[in-house]
Amino acid sequence: MTDVLVAGGGLIGLSVAWRTAQRGLSVTVVDDDPGTGASYAAAGMLAPVTEAAYGEEPLLRLCLASLQRYPDFVAELSRAAATPVELRTTGTLVVGFDDDDMRALAALHGFQQDLGLAVQRLTGRESRRREPALAPRVRGGLQVPGDHSVDPRALHRTLLAAARAAGVEMLCARIGGVRIEGGRATGLRLLGGEELAGDAVVLALGAHTASLPGVPPLPVRPVKGQILRLGGADGLLGGTVRALVRGRQVYLVPSAGDGLVVGATVEDRGFDPAVTAGGVHDLLHDAIDVVPAISELELVETLARWRPGSADNAPVLGPSGLPGLVLATGHYRNGVLLTPVTGEVIAEFLAGGALPPLARPFTIDRFRR
Ligand code: GLY
Repeated sequence: MTDVLVAGGGLIGLSVAWRTAQRGLSVTVVDDDPGTGASYAAAGMLAPVTEAAYGEEPLLRLCLASLQRYPDFVAELSRAAATPVELRTTGTLVVGFDDDDMRALAALHGFQQDLGLAVQRLTGRESRRREPALAPRVRGGLQVPGDHSVDPRALHRTLLAAARAAGVEMLCARIGGVRIEGGRATGLRLLGGEELAGDAVVLALGAHTASLPGVPPLPVRPVKGQILRLGGADGLLGGTVRALVRGRQVYLVPSAGDGLVVGATVEDRGFDPAVTAGGVHDLLHDAIDVVPAISELELVETLARWRPGSADNAPVLGPSGLPGLVLATGHYRNGVLLTPVTGEVIAEFLAGGALPPLARPFTIDRFRR
């Protein structure tokens, strides 16, 4: 018997487990292959401003709150795990290619200004001065100094070490469902038939959360993303570059060593695992349009995973409606960014009994009203 069972050992599950163990509760994380889902695919953009969308202002506030926590979060983690995690604070440049792209960027800039976000409009020449590898055809851009990045794989390794050091048990097993007795969640059933008992069960299974037997209906679905990793990009870009290329979005994120992550498709195709010729073609085509030298880089890795998309693109946090069952899912495009704040608010809910005000707009109740 443990105080808290966390289903899912990705970034969100481990952050919840680490923070909850720090509050003095016993915690077991159950996952048959921790950190191989969306956490493994993610580029690691910490980008509340460049991800901001009309009508999603509450999500933006949560994202900004999590970004604010990042420097202390990685510093504390690095100490706890005795491994440094680097936060890249070189900002993000968003560029456009044709007239329509530039109109879309101008509209985005207006929206960002209305929200009081720090964004500077640049001409094509000013954009190239910041990022000399940009193609001459780039027409202009927006410089966002506050949108950063982190290496999600390094972050996961560090969270795993910190969680273990805080006393979190890691159980490598496949989960078959939630155990429900007397109208409350009392643990997890494993695929082999074994049962694990816990006072509380946290579901942090990303896109897989809604399909777990025993889970009440959840507005969370898989949104496929294909993503590429290139090598040999040392010094090519100073920071993250995002682009609108004839209406299509692509992002280029410098990563560990000489890596460059190129992402990502957004596809509503269920749990389709295929890396497709079309997906890779579109990403590389747009990336090379923006930064021609990318055509010389080595294609090191291609993969597809699933974002946990919710009905309003915001996470689903806190009580599920079923006593004992707690939700930490639906992070969609912002899972890496929302890792610190999710761990903090769910740990507070588990240890203190109340969800902090910051997280209250994100309970499942918003879909039931
Ligand atoms: N956060 C970027 C993406 O989901 O592709």
